[in-house]
Amino acid sequence: MAKTKTTYFCQNCGYQSAKWLGKCPSCGEWNTFVEEVISKSDDKKHGIKKGEKKSHPVAIGKITSEKEERTDTRNAELNRVLGGGLVSGSVVLIGGEPGIGKSTLLLQTALNIKGKRVLYVSGEESKQQIKMRADRIGIENNACYILNETFTTDIFKEIETLEPEILIVDSIQTLYTDTLDSSPGSISQIRETAAELMRFAKSTHVPVLLIGHITKDGNLAGPKVLEHMVDTVLHFEGDQHYGFRILRSVKNRFGSTSELGIFEMHVGGLREVNNPSEILLSQREEAASGVAIAAMIEGQRPMLVETQALVTNAAYGTPQRSATGFDLRRMNMLLAILEKRSGFKLGTKDVFLNIAGGIRVDDPAIDLAIVAAILSSLEDIALSTNTCFAAEVGLSGEIRSVAHVENRILEAEKLGFEKVVISKFNLKGLDKSRYHIEIVGVAKIEEVLSELFG
Ligand code: TYD
Ligand code: MG
Repeated sequence: MAKTKTTYFCQNCGYQSAKWLGKCPSCGEWNTFVEEVISKSDDKKHGIKKGEKKSHPVAIGKITSEKEERTDTRNAELNRVLGGGLVSGSVVLIGGEPGIGKSTLLLQTALNIKGKRVLYVSGEESKQQIKMRADRIGIENNACYILNETFTTDIFKEIETLEPEILIVDSIQTLYTDTLDSSPGSISQIRETAAELMRFAKSTHVPVLLIGHITKDGNLAGPKVLEHMVDTVLHFEGDQHYGFRILRSVKNRFGSTSELGIFEMHVGGLREVNNPSEILLSQREEAASGVAIAAMIEGQRPMLVETQALVTNAAYGTPQRSATGFDLRRMNMLLAILEKRSGFKLGTKDVFLNIAGGIRVDDPAIDLAIVAAILSSLEDIALSTNTCFAAEVGLSGEIRSVAHVENRILEAEKLGFEKVVISKFNLKGLDKSRYHIEIVGVAKIEEVLSELFG
């Protein structure tokens, strides 16, 4: 085999250099140089091996479409996020913060899948550690094999003898290949090892599940090209202090990206949560001020969440504002709307906002519930526990319509709510007689006030 040749490329503009440079002389960007392989060996030019057939253009009408073959992961939430199971030959990347449960999720999946040989390659934990985890999860599966190896050539050797039907790699950052000198976890190593796994998946039709670390700012560590290469990118997220974990699809070549799976971490691994509203509504006996329920939608799933607000007189000069699970700037905007449009003096108040359950909400339909919670706390009047809200609040105090309002209403009805407050504009085309829940349409903040406090 001829010696591998590598060179350095600026990831921003593509400038080529024989040496590593801190600043790109062409585009002026810093820290953009990455080592890349330019020729691996003689028999492999332009990625085509000797004897391998070149591809020729084919008219699209002549291409026979095949239904992709999917493996049931026996985990309803994971199946849903993948778009209905694991597609043969696909490469799925799962990213998430340390300790969120990525290894647990995939080990559990490996143990759960019956009738298929699964190879779980770990560069992070020893066999004993994995065994201990498997014991906690409490599922036995003799077709699940564990391998402690990080050198890809050796991994592929083991794969040749074992012939697994599903491959799991924990994590892509620990793998290394000898075609490059750089250390494991470096951008070029991640790219090369991922490319090797991609080629393996595409040529053998074995699905590959990769675990990826994320950086401090929440992106997957490594080159962006990694996310471009793989078929599916999933994010596993949640608050460390709460049990809930949300599996979100960020990219999916074989399904929708608006799906999401919900899990709960407990002593025996991850439990699928099929009815999220039940756990997101906090356990209270009586109505309290500062609490309002929002009928929101995450992905495709309606769920009811509790928003809690605490409004008090600011003890110090500058009022404090804090929001957990909600965008602080958006909360400040809602406070400004309330101040301007309905004359509430919130400028001298401390305002604290919390979304129960430790989840993060981006759905604008939660606005109205937040406004209701803030007003309820400000006036110290508890809202009825049987009312929920679903509408966006505009800058001029108008109550705006939201998408999928029928699903939200149905979910509220299913959970026994008696009244749902929505935008008047959502009432159009809505057949109220179909629902057994009272539906109230409002158009302005003032109408919300009279609806809340009479
Ligand atoms: P882990 O899967 O190791 O996270 P990651 O691979 O994303 O870094 O999950 C670690 C956490 O999960 C750890 O803090 C303990 C917790 N855990 C449970 O609560 N119950 C269990 O049954 C298992 C296996 C883990
Ligand atoms: Mg792990």
